[in-house]
Amino acid sequence: EHEPLVLGIETSCDETGVGIVRGQTLLADTVASSVDEHARFGGVVPEVASRAHLEAMVPTIERACAQAGVRLQEVDAVAVTAGPGLAGALLVGVAAAKALAVGLGRPIYGVNHLAAHVAVDVVEHGPLPEPTMGLLVSGGHSNLLLVPDVTCDIRSLGATIDDAAGEAFDKVARLLGLPFPGGPHIDRAAREGNQVAIDFPRGLTSGRDMDRHRFDYSFSGLKTAVARWVKAREDSGEPVPVADVAASFQEAVVDVLTRKAVLACREHGVDDLLIGGGVAANSRLRAMAQERCDAAGVRLRVPRPGLCTDNGAMVAALGAEMVQKGREASRLDLPADSSQPV
Ligand code: KG4
Ligand code: ZN
Repeated sequence: EHEPLVLGIETSCDETGVGIVRGQTLLADTVASSVDEHARFGGVVPEVASRAHLEAMVPTIERACAQAGVRLQEVDAVAVTAGPGLAGALLVGVAAAKALAVGLGRPIYGVNHLAAHVAVDVVEHGPLPEPTMGLLVSGGHSNLLLVPDVTCDIRSLGATIDDAAGEAFDKVARLLGLPFPGGPHIDRAAREGNQVAIDFPRGLTSGRDMDRHRFDYSFSGLKTAVARWVKAREDSGEPVPVADVAASFQEAVVDVLTRKAVLACREHGVDDLLIGGGVAANSRLRAMAQERCDAAGVRLRVPRPGLCTDNGAMVAALGAEMVQKGREASRLDLPADSSQPV
């Protein structure tokens, strides 16, 4: 019995990712990033990203095949992120996947980027429990997903109503004079700081806000609070305690993320929480999630950092799940959908 060999392409933001899996075994994961080209703008520039994908696509596919030790002709199916993401960036990946599928005479599977962030963990920790609760936190999204079946049934319980968690990290890093993308720099600075030094607000966690937005997130008020606090310090002529601000800000974000995720597990009777997206690399998030999951009797799954950030392996992994579960392939005129819901 031959397990399907699936090649996955991811181009929804600034990483050109190509991954290859056989069944649930990861054979290759190659990523070319244009993040350095965006750094001087302090954020991802869509046009720059599309152009970089175009230049990186063929070499990245070739590197993936070499890494996996397979020839393109052996691929059984092609999977590609169809959305959500930057429209022009998605188009490059979808066009490349169509060309491959036609050239090889193989089916194409258009997959959802958020679902792929959840599905990737099968290559690291084995089959996904059904249901799994997914907390996705990256520069583009903050979502709480109830996942009965990652190939066809994902329910959105909540999302950010303003900034994504990673976006908040990046904006606060900028306020503190740290480079882009700021998440890893805040994480590092926070280790030298006191997380209870400043009591920053926890958005949508109490009263009517909590009633109305039980599993939603909000980080823009927190960002504004940090900006005000830093400005007051600067105006007073005192130095800004960067480590304390970083640690206190990070604590506020991580507190809300983990509190609501564990609450969602309890209220929906789900025993497994999976955290994905670039912010899942955050050391304080991992530690607090582990503590709160242990206390609530929930098992925690976090893929290794390289699989949490955008990559092609996650798309290949979800494609392979779809093949193995007998899901229907996409049509060849599959559109890129920048605002595709889960
Ligand atoms: O998933 P990702 O690579 O790309 C998308 O946004 O889709 O996530 C990137 C985000 C950035 O906002 C970055 O600052 C954040 O993940 N990030 C972190 C850490 N590492 C990356 N945020 C907090 N702590 C980290 N260690
Ligand atoms: Zn992502």
